[in-house]
Amino acid sequence: MPFHDDLALDEHLDDLDPLRHLMQQPDSDESDLDLDLKLALLPQQPRSIYDETLHLSFISNPDPITISLAVDAAPGCGGIAWPAGEVLASFLAKQGAAYVRGRTILELGSGTGLVGLVAAKLGGTTVCITDQAMLLDIMRRNVRANALQDSVRVAELNWGTPLPQDISPPDLILAADCVYYEPAFPLLVQTLADLVDLQAQRGKDTDTEVLFCYKKRRKADKRFFALLKKGFSWTEVMDDPDREVYTRDAISLLRLFRRKDHKEEARRRIA
Ligand SMILES: C[S@@+](CC[C@H](N)C(=O)[O-])C[C@H]1O[C@@H](n2cnc3c(N)ncnc32)[C@H](O)[C@@H]1O
Repeated sequence: MPFHDDLALDEHLDDLDPLRHLMQQPDSDESDLDLDLKLALLPQQPRSIYDETLHLSFISNPDPITISLAVDAAPGCGGIAWPAGEVLASFLAKQGAAYVRGRTILELGSGTGLVGLVAAKLGGTTVCITDQAMLLDIMRRNVRANALQDSVRVAELNWGTPLPQDISPPDLILAADCVYYEPAFPLLVQTLADLVDLQAQRGKDTDTEVLFCYKKRRKADKRFFALLKKGFSWTEVMDDPDREVYTRDAISLLRLFRRKDHKEEARRRIA
């Protein structure tokens, strides 16, 4: 089959294996492989992970945050801990309890729930971790393993579908390692917009903060950012002392802002 450019090839390979980007190193503009060679390369496979428990510790003040995390690749890629998730969890832990206190927090594409669990361990009392149906069991297990049933709720939330009625407008949205499958790009942007607008529609004055931790894997990711740009702007979080380390791994931590015209439109809808 002829492919007119790299992106078309990427889309074709995505259809064959949507998870392949999770196993590959980021694209390098300098090292473009020709088409035949790309098709001939097998993606590097991670070792299989089946029902293991990780014991993770994140620096925080005054005490480290420790998490016991069941990981299992059986329910899908979200069942293991991904690097951008660890970066975001570690960032939250460093911010300390004051960062989460009194805030309604929602995590998208939580997988094992790691990031939301860290927010709750820090002292967040209203945390909702969300993902697709097949991940909910492992998320519930992890909530119980860390005795966080009183502060963490597990909910199914499929990007691009109407928000469940019982979702509270979040003050803080967390998302890590959620950019990898091109057909899901518009769905994720839609859900981010719906959640941020929910806050405005319910008459809350403060804007929702969105922390979006992203690992670059391929050039087609720019299509995600082209879609995102229609409704959001963003800045990179620069004051994380670990930034230099994870930048080398093509990970960046972004703060997203709803564009002003969209914010006003959401407020008008309730007026
Ligand atoms: C690479 S994993 C990252 C998991 C976790 N955030 C982490 O960093 O370890 C991507 C997550 O996005 C979820 N996801 C993918 N498409 C989704 C969709 N359409 N709706 C909801 N979640 C989705 C997957 O189930 C998976 O848990």
